[in-house]
Amino acid sequence: EVSKKGNHRNSERFSTGIGVLMATLGSAVGLGNIWKFPYLTGSNGGAAFLIVYIICTILVGFPILVAEHMLGRKGRGDAVSTFENVAPKSAWWVIGASGILAAFLIMAFYTEVAGWVFAYVFKSFGSGLLSTDPEVTSSIFASLVSNPVQSLIWQWIVLAVVGAIIMLGVAKGIEGTTKRLLPILALLLIIIGIRSITLPGAGQGLSFLFKPDFSKITAPVILTAMGLAFFKLSIGMGCMLTYGSYYSEDQNIPKNAARVVAADLTVSILAGIAIFPAVFSFGFEPAAGTQLLFITIPSVFASMPLGGVFMVAFFLLTAFAAIGAMISLVEVVVAFLVNRTKLGRKKSTLITVVSMAVVGSLAALSNSTMANVTVFGKTFFDLYDYVSSNILLPVGGLMIAIFATWVWGWPRFKEALSNNGALANEGVLKAVYNILKFVSPVLVAIILLTGLNIVHI
Ligand code: PHE
Repeated sequence: EVSKKGNHRNSERFSTGIGVLMATLGSAVGLGNIWKFPYLTGSNGGAAFLIVYIICTILVGFPILVAEHMLGRKGRGDAVSTFENVAPKSAWWVIGASGILAAFLIMAFYTEVAGWVFAYVFKSFGSGLLSTDPEVTSSIFASLVSNPVQSLIWQWIVLAVVGAIIMLGVAKGIEGTTKRLLPILALLLIIIGIRSITLPGAGQGLSFLFKPDFSKITAPVILTAMGLAFFKLSIGMGCMLTYGSYYSEDQNIPKNAARVVAADLTVSILAGIAIFPAVFSFGFEPAAGTQLLFITIPSVFASMPLGGVFMVAFFLLTAFAAIGAMISLVEVVVAFLVNRTKLGRKKSTLITVVSMAVVGSLAALSNSTMANVTVFGKTFFDLYDYVSSNILLPVGGLMIAIFATWVWGWPRFKEALSNNGALANEGVLKAVYNILKFVSPVLVAIILLTGLNIVHI
């Protein structure tokens, strides 16, 4: 609601503790776990990348997640208004503005990949996809992405579905659905994982995922791992700030954040176990890039009984997970427009989704019509992904870490997380605070400067 100036506060709240956990997980778990994590791990050397990613998640991702929930709850606004509420008459709202930009860039490529998932739901009803031959599954994927019309249409379908859900206000319903489906997705990943690790030659895949070869680690690889940690937890761009604004006063924020991080990591590792043994068993290329999920997973299903049925279920559940994440991305922009303009929820959503289609079409066409159009040597698909995950999110997170500690300071930090004195294990809080103050910003800064090749060590 638009109220007196400098005070755009919202009044909505998540109801139950488990609801808070599930809503937050709904944003975190998505294509990041099932598509991005495996493909980046595959292209960046496997286990060593996984270790760097986990370290970044613990030392950078977790404390920033706590800070965002805390500031969001304190400020009770959208990404921009929250900062105006907690730090009036300052320029910190720019973090929120950069988050809105990031939401657009992420949605541009995310909707494209989600479109592939939607397309695969339909394709998996036929038997064409069920092949253990890498040539067959790769060419099916190639024919989908190299077709400009299909790419655009699937992207629009995805945007229409997400837009409709948000407009109808059934986001709660989707949350409810997602929270029931997430456990099923995890179970399905376990089943696929078991099939995958019992394939001949699967051991190679497991050592790829769990036996580190640190010679693969370079500054750009570390930046990619850190970018993934930000992307995975939906931090550095206002999404978790917005969600924090719906948290109730008695929510134990650090505990909830720890659960989110643990559950999210588990889903990613399960996806890795489902994919990598199959990669080696069937002779795929672990560094296949963005297409990894779409060429290996059908082969795992092709080699198990009832594979066709499982495959439909798998892509359907992945689509649901992706929708949950996209709702939170669109919500960053819509919450801002609803708070700050007179447009109302429906019009705000429509404007947001249509602009996302425009920005996104450049990503959708980047494997076909515009495959040769590159900026800094990257297609638009890669550029959007790179700029958001590796620059905007880390810079946003860095600023949040600095703001919450160096600017806001311990007394307010402690007070904001103390839940009216009810909770607060002070030792734990102090540890999170000190990591957020001294460790996270330094790590992010070093990784950014070296990974972007600004400074050489
Ligand atoms: N965390 C989501 C995923 O991994 C993506 C996301 C990023 C969602 C940023 C919201 C904000 O799929």
